[in-house]
Amino acid sequence: MPTAPTSTGSGRSSAHDLRQAPDGFRKVLKALRARPPVRSARLPAEPPWRSRFVASGTDVPRTSLQEFGYRTGELRRHEGRVDDTAIAGPWRVLTDEGLECLTAVCGQLEGAAQDAGFTATRRLRAADLLSPFIGNMIRDRGFLLACSRLVGIPLIPHPLRLPTAQVNYGDGRGRQGGVHWHRDGMDYVFTIQLSGYEDYDGGRFTYFRGRTDEFPGPVSGDSRFRTADCGERGATLFLHGSRIFHAVTPVTKGRRVTLVISLFCPYFARQDSNTFWHLAADDGIAATVPGWLRLKWPVRNPAVDFGLRSAGPVITWGDLR
Ligand SMILES: [Fe+2]
Repeated sequence: MPTAPTSTGSGRSSAHDLRQAPDGFRKVLKALRARPPVRSARLPAEPPWRSRFVASGTDVPRTSLQEFGYRTGELRRHEGRVDDTAIAGPWRVLTDEGLECLTAVCGQLEGAAQDAGFTATRRLRAADLLSPFIGNMIRDRGFLLACSRLVGIPLIPHPLRLPTAQVNYGDGRGRQGGVHWHRDGMDYVFTIQLSGYEDYDGGRFTYFRGRTDEFPGPVSGDSRFRTADCGERGATLFLHGSRIFHAVTPVTKGRRVTLVISLFCPYFARQDSNTFWHLAADDGIAATVPGWLRLKWPVRNPAVDFGLRSAGPVITWGDLR
């Protein structure tokens, strides 16, 4: 596959102006203060989700974790398959018709969005629990197979549920939509751009092309800082979120909206990178416990058990052949 196209530029706002997100004990303090996500809201009627909204496959630029400096022995593997995709895209997962509907749905959902602290400045967590369109989209077998084939491993909605679909809203009028340097608790993260570079200035998706233990912090002058090529409306970017430091520069003009979908490989459940306090820092302790139990409860058949726990279809290695 071709290598993911990148540049070292970062738009009008700089990635080096961003701070690094809090870690360690500061996460515990944040968990104690966190508000749970909105679970219900009065929202206008939505268009229905249709399986035909999933775009047909194309050759997608891809960079491996080895190219980021990870050793072969550090990669997850199952029956000869290796979990080695670091970043893939830009890629269109939805047709133009599907993208139009999703953009309208996410626009309507903004009324339920909440201000956030160190990550996106305004966002809606658990969007699939409020939106039937998004809920059906991320549990559509065709959608999940497209995502699974891109990464090369079986993927389903994350059993933690609350972080699996998040809409981020940023504009140049105070709610800037910038995201400080961080790595995700989630391993398999897909960001769908619902705005394009013609809609806003700044808002550049930036990442460190190296191992997380080599991340130098938000300093200037390191040639390993890159800007992902995802400026087109509908462009979707896959990121191995837990193994790559990334950030979004502030939006200085216009409006930027993205939908971030976090998927899960049932076969690698025991190596899931989430920690309880990372999750609780976002959603509070009480809201985190049920999802944590769904993730950690013992399984007999990973694909079937986690399919049930995520209220989605069963996707197996055999589906990827
Ligand atoms: Fe992230």
